[in-house]
Amino acid sequence: MTQKITIAIDGFSSTGKSTIAKQLAKELGYIYVDTGAMYRAVTLYAMQQNYISDSHFNPNDLIADLHNVSLSFIFNKSLGFAEMILNNINVEKAIRTIEVSRLVSKIATISEVRKKLVSEQQEMGKNKGIVMDGRDIGTVVFPDAELKLFMTASADKRATRRYKELLDRGDKVNYEEILHNVQERDRIDSTREDSPLVIAKDAIEFDNSDMGLKEQFERIISLVNRNFK
Ligand code: DC
Repeated sequence: MTQKITIAIDGFSSTGKSTIAKQLAKELGYIYVDTGAMYRAVTLYAMQQNYISDSHFNPNDLIADLHNVSLSFIFNKSLGFAEMILNNINVEKAIRTIEVSRLVSKIATISEVRKKLVSEQQEMGKNKGIVMDGRDIGTVVFPDAELKLFMTASADKRATRRYKELLDRGDKVNYEEILHNVQERDRIDSTREDSPLVIAKDAIEFDNSDMGLKEQFERIISLVNRNFK
């Protein structure tokens, strides 16, 4: 590859964005950044400080304390991807629980949180050669990204995938609860005031309800090779 580009991957939750993004980054020798992990880490912090729970939410307390939230990634060679570090502690596993999934969309509505994370994401991508996935990458973080993908799939397909993932991890899970979480996050992510999940005008939409990973990957990599080699 002669020129390094920026690849933005947005879309609904559990559409397999991160799996595709990781594979693409590996194939191209690019950095991969999972921005959902950053919103999840802030959510975990807010839960630990008791700023949010299922029964209460104090955004102003979190906003006043945001300067104490330090986020970074550390590459784990054996896993082949970067793990999320919150204030020097590896929280990669702790941010993937159903409790964090239930509360993260609320945290992601806070403009001050978004401002902090967007500026950190822009800094990480300033030299290009990056694949970043999230909800606002092609619209807000890197509106000039050379390649923008938007992933979708039916809520049922996505909930089934997530259910299997959590089962494989050994978690106790309930399909109905996961389906509800997927639908609720779609609703909050798409209707929030600041940076709602919308498809960028110049994004390519991928409905992968009935498409395997291999086929998706091959289509996307051939797109990259055709246009940017
Ligand atoms: O990709 P994920 O499911 O791990 O993301 C968790 C939540 O974070 C998602 O419900 C919305 C929010 N998010 C966001 O608002 N903007 C991003 N760029 C990434 C995630």
